[in-house]
Amino acid sequence: MLIAILGATSALAHHTAREFARRERASFLLVGRQRERLETVAADLRAFGAGECRCQTLDFSDPAAASAWLPADGPGPDLVLIAHGSLSDEARAASDPQYATAELDLNFGSTLRLAYAAAADFERRGAGHLAIVTSVAGERGRASNFFYGAAKAGLIAFCSGLRARLSRRGIALTELRPGSLATPMTAHLPQGALFCPAEKAGRLCAAALRRRADIAWIPGWWRWIMLVIRWLPERVFKQVKF
Ligand SMILES: NC(=O)c1ccc[n+]([C@@H]2O[C@H](COP(=O)([O-])OP(=O)(O)OC[C@H]3O[C@@H](n4cnc5c(N)ncnc54)[C@H](OP(=O)(O)O)[C@@H]3O)[C@@H](O)[C@H]2O)c1
Repeated sequence: MLIAILGATSALAHHTAREFARRERASFLLVGRQRERLETVAADLRAFGAGECRCQTLDFSDPAAASAWLPADGPGPDLVLIAHGSLSDEARAASDPQYATAELDLNFGSTLRLAYAAAADFERRGAGHLAIVTSVAGERGRASNFFYGAAKAGLIAFCSGLRARLSRRGIALTELRPGSLATPMTAHLPQGALFCPAEKAGRLCAAALRRRADIAWIPGWWRWIMLVIRWLPERVFKQVKF
């Protein structure tokens, strides 16, 4: 089994990959923007039992990166996991249009470009499994992170439509929808009771991918929290402080 991970230095992706290294002895194509960090992940996955681990350096904010990671020869990946992202500075996004455009493109645009390239490759080969990391922040815009949430909301809609298209060709699309995770992305935030350790999140993501789930809340109880939050009337929701 060959797994391509786009954003392979992400803590969530790394812990998910460990599960596939340990159990499936999977091989990996690890793609990200920092060679040294990718090599560290590769060494770790090998120690966990992975087969061949290749690293490729790409910055996903560059539109030319969209399909540059696809292997030119040899077998294509069975699973492509798109996991990169940035927890945008909401205040800066409101006052710095250049920053806002770049963040929106990274969290939304670049993911679409990579997903389209993976989908076209799977469609050409008639098989495959695509996984995209979104966020519960995309389910309803909160006062504290609606800029980041808006990009993730776009991804949630995109996943739904692309899944419907790909399913007609026998190709799966799993949307991994985490709540708050204890990863470098959130290291500067106070870690409340709802935070899930990256190791546990990785195990849950791997389990969702093995059963080719359509949507997986990480952990699963976020599904019920978000059910309540989605149904709060706007006049109540706008007064809730979170
Ligand atoms: N942490 C949470 O609470 C949380 C909650 C919901 C959803 N998520 C989502 O989960 C995914 C993984 O995040 P994480 O929590 O594992 O955080 P993380 O460890 O900080 O990972 C973020 C990853 O994005 C990569 N990245 C950022 N900009 C990039 C670019 N221009 N080109 C290539 N790679 C780039 C980073 O690469 P470098 O190593 O080069 O910096 C890093 O690998 C993200 O999509 C995030 O939005 C996270």
